[in-house]
Amino acid sequence: MRRLTILLVLAILMFSSCFKEKERESEPLLVLRYADNQPEYYPTTKAARHFADLVKERTGGKIEIRVYSNGELGNERSVFQQVQFGGIDLSRCSLGILSDVYPQIGMLQLPYLYNDSTHMWRVLDGDVGDMFLSGFSTFHAVGLCWFDAGARSFYTRSPVKSLSDMQGMTIRVQENELMSDIVRLLGVTPVQIPYGEVYSALQMMRIDGAENNMPSYVFMEHDEAAPYFFVDEHIRLPEVLVMSEAAKEKIKKVDPSFLVVMQDCAKETGRFERSLWQQAEKDALENMKAEGCVITWPADATLDEFKKAMKPIYDKYTGEEALLIEKIRKE
Ligand code: GCU
Repeated sequence: MRRLTILLVLAILMFSSCFKEKERESEPLLVLRYADNQPEYYPTTKAARHFADLVKERTGGKIEIRVYSNGELGNERSVFQQVQFGGIDLSRCSLGILSDVYPQIGMLQLPYLYNDSTHMWRVLDGDVGDMFLSGFSTFHAVGLCWFDAGARSFYTRSPVKSLSDMQGMTIRVQENELMSDIVRLLGVTPVQIPYGEVYSALQMMRIDGAENNMPSYVFMEHDEAAPYFFVDEHIRLPEVLVMSEAAKEKIKKVDPSFLVVMQDCAKETGRFERSLWQQAEKDALENMKAEGCVITWPADATLDEFKKAMKPIYDKYTGEEALLIEKIRKE
C-alpha cells in the first residue's frame, strides 16, 4: 500500500512538472506591439492578425505580436516617430505620411505614376521596391513588406464632374507637403488632418471633401457626409510594414534566426493582404452603390486635364531622381 502511495505521488509530481514545462514553453519570450490606424476587419488589420499568427507559429510561441487597431496607439505620423524611437515595435503605414520624413519615398507616390495596379506591383516587387524598403534603415526602421491600398480619388459634399468643379474647394489631405502640393495644383486648398479626424471634419463642414481609396471611404463612413465620389485615381499609394531597429535587436537576442522568420512571415503577409485588398475594393464599390453614393467615372479627356496639371510636381525632380522616375514609369 505504501509503495502504491509513493508511486502515485511520484506520478503526480512528474505530471505537474511536465505541465509547468508546457506552460513555460507557451509563454512568449518577447511581446511586440503592432499599430494600425484602420478598424478591425479592414484588410490591413486582418493582415496584421495573420502576421501575428504566422510569427507565433514559426517561433514556437516565443514571439507574440499584439495588434492595436483603430489608431489606439496614436495617429499614423506619431506612431511612425515612435517606431523610430523604439516605443512601438511594428506599424503599417501609408506612404502618404512618410514622405516628409523619408523624402525619396515620395517618388513612389507621384500622381498618375503607374498605369495600373499590376504596373505598381512590378515596381514594388522588383529592385526599386527592395531599394526603398532597405532605405528605411537610414530612418531607424526596417522596411518589411508592401501592402496594397489601391488608388485614391476625391469625394466631396457637392458634385464634382470635372477639374473646374473643384476650384476653390477645401480638401483634406494626409499630413505631408507633397500631397498638399498635388492638390494645390488642382486649384484646391489642402487641409492636413489625421485620418481619424476626417469624419468629424466632414460632418462639421470644416472641409468640402477628402480623398482616399474606396475601402477607407466606406469603412470610415465618409460617404455619409460626402456622397459624391469622383474616380480620378490621382494617386496609387502603397503602404509599408515597418519594424523598429530596437525591435530588431530584441528579436536577435531571443534567437538571431528569428529575424529571417519575421521577414519571411512579412513577405507572406504582404501577399495575403493583396488578395484581401482586391476583394475589399469590390465590396466597397458594391456598398457605395447600395448606399446611393453618386459615383462619377471621368472620361479620358477629363483625366488628361488632371494629368497635365501635375507636370510641375514631376519638374521638381532632376538628375538621378528624374532617371529613377523614368525607370519606374517604363517598368
Ligand atoms: C488610407 C491608409 C491609412 C491612412 C489614410 C489617410 O486609409 O490606409 O493608413 O492613414 O489613408 O488618408 O490618412
